[in-house]
Amino acid sequence: MINKNQISILIVDDEEDIRDVLEIALIDSGYTVFLAENGEIALDIFKSKRPDIVITDIKMPIMDGIELLRRIKRENPLTEVLMITGHGDMHLTIRSLKYDAMDFITKPVNVDILEIAIEKAIEKIVARQQLLEYTQKLELLILEKSKLADHLSSLGLMIGSISHNIKGLLTNLDGGVYVARSGVKAEDNKIIQEGLGLLEQAVDRIKKMIMDILLYSKERKLNRTAIDTKTFIEQIKEIVELKLKGKKIAFSCNNSDFPDSMYFDNEFMLAALINILDNAIDACMADTEKKEHEIGFEISKKSGQLVIYIHDNGCGMDTQTKEKIFNLFFSSKSTKGTGFGLYISNSIIKQHGGSIHVTSIKGKETRFKIILPDKI
Ligand SMILES: Nc1ncnc2c1ncn2[C@@H]1O[C@H](COP(=O)(O)OP(=O)(O)OP(=O)(O)O)[C@@H](O)[C@H]1O
Ligand SMILES: [Mg+2]
Repeated sequence: MINKNQISILIVDDEEDIRDVLEIALIDSGYTVFLAENGEIALDIFKSKRPDIVITDIKMPIMDGIELLRRIKRENPLTEVLMITGHGDMHLTIRSLKYDAMDFITKPVNVDILEIAIEKAIEKIVARQQLLEYTQKLELLILEKSKLADHLSSLGLMIGSISHNIKGLLTNLDGGVYVARSGVKAEDNKIIQEGLGLLEQAVDRIKKMIMDILLYSKERKLNRTAIDTKTFIEQIKEIVELKLKGKKIAFSCNNSDFPDSMYFDNEFMLAALINILDNAIDACMADTEKKEHEIGFEISKKSGQLVIYIHDNGCGMDTQTKEKIFNLFFSSKSTKGTGFGLYISNSIIKQHGGSIHVTSIKGKETRFKIILPDKI
């Protein structure tokens, strides 16, 4: 139930007696009342007080009731306007209908009839308010429901993709165990090493996948700290060189023009860049055309921005592939890829206020350029 003193009413009439009678009656009923003797004053009060209901005489000097009604509706179409009409105002009454007057009270004004008209106007206002609240609640519910559906469907996709990958990795593990066992049986160290190599590879992939899943499910805020650039580059170098052990891929890390320190979440940024470097390694391994492969990593500072370049001369990719690389679960590597890597890298860079730009030539090279605001 709405409280009457929450409803404000503006009474507009050029006759003082009528204004006084209506004011007393409506204040007595508990409404908040404003008074105006002509249309111009009424408009000023309307703009500053925003009354819910306006009761106006139809015939007034300066500005008539119809013009006032028209202007009020233009200011706020939801305002309810009651017209006070006299005998012989038929054509004016019909005109005011066109401008959406709520009701008509004939002179001399009967206060009881006026009260009934006001109550009808309040019912209309309340119903509209309830409808608005209901619609807003409904919109929220729909939004939540679609978010939940999105979440469930990506969860389903994730489980499907992970199961598929785990199956592939188990086959690799089985293969490694089989080769290592055969080596032990034959007392052949070379075969044992081969088996262990296969096992190591599979364990590495499982580790990466678990790390990615953990990052994906982690909705934590960034933990930004000042990071010493040299130490960060050393960290990258150490990780990549370990990954490149036994592979014929050169790693160049020529950083000259870099800032002393950077400001970001060390764990997240490391994960983002290593995912890109992992792909560079995979791309070099997948390329059977070139004899020599190289991966480059460079950090530099350019006009107030931090720019990180990662390039490789591996297999490259065509335009269609390039368009999809940041999509969750997009992978061209069958069981060897989950399609998590770049999705996570992109999310992390975006969270830091940065962007990733990729150029690639199939069969030749791929270049990643990551732009980050220097100080965030
Ligand atoms: N340097 C690159 N050279 C060629 N193709 C690339 C390169 N980087 C990314 N891609 C393409 O983008 C795809 C998506 O990469 P992303 O890292 O998201 O997934 P993935 O490497 O397949 O799997 P994982 O989840 O194990 O990282 C890759 O499958 C590959 O097709
Ligand atoms: Mg990857």
